[in-house]
Amino acid sequence: MGIQITPSILNADFAKLGAEVARIGSADWVHVDVMDNHFVPNLTFGPTMVEALSRAASIPLDVHLMIEEPDANALAYVEAGAASVTFHVEAAAAPVRLARELRSHGARASMALKPATPIEPYEDLLPELDMLLVMTVEPGFGGQKFLDLCLPKIRRARELMRKHGVETWLQVDGGVSLETIERCAEAGADVFVAGSAVYSADDPDRMVAELRARAEAASS
Ligand code: DX5
Ligand code: ZN
Repeated sequence: MGIQITPSILNADFAKLGAEVARIGSADWVHVDVMDNHFVPNLTFGPTMVEALSRAASIPLDVHLMIEEPDANALAYVEAGAASVTFHVEAAAAPVRLARELRSHGARASMALKPATPIEPYEDLLPELDMLLVMTVEPGFGGQKFLDLCLPKIRRARELMRKHGVETWLQVDGGVSLETIERCAEAGADVFVAGSAVYSADDPDRMVAELRARAEAASS
């Protein structure tokens, strides 16, 4: 599939989200951070908002659920129009069942790891997943500093994918910018979430192109 850039609207202007999404026309996905004020200390969108966004956006929605009880709540986001749904393994009661449910309802199934959660206990789950998200900040807020301590996990995750012969996408999220994206790409990431880097730029779509060029150069 190659390099994909997925701007997060967490740092966009919430009062005009439709217009904000239109500013990143060359992105592959729009990353939508759903936070419930329990799994993380912040509160953002629910399914109704996601549904409205999916009608407004011309690119597919990549929904990142930072919520408790994703087993009971994730499907509502597929029904709201999400093409990819990521749940946190730390919150899921039955990650295999949940991934299968997401896929059977037509969405891509993705699982996220917080910085302190290792990949090794979950390597056998990789064939059940379309994407693995390795968080490179503690989830909850945009604009945090990239955690270099997550790089070895990205590398190990890529090795495990090769070992299992799966085509799982490897996403990084948190502090990804022109300064840090090369490190992530060299370590094996191929899907890049960038929030503040994109939406604090004068021309967000140009930043998407610059991030893409840098990741492509570093991964080739
Ligand atoms: C953090 C979110 C991220 C966030 C990234 O919990 O999951 O998607 O928006 O924002 P930046 O790129 O500013 O770290
Ligand atoms: Zn996110």
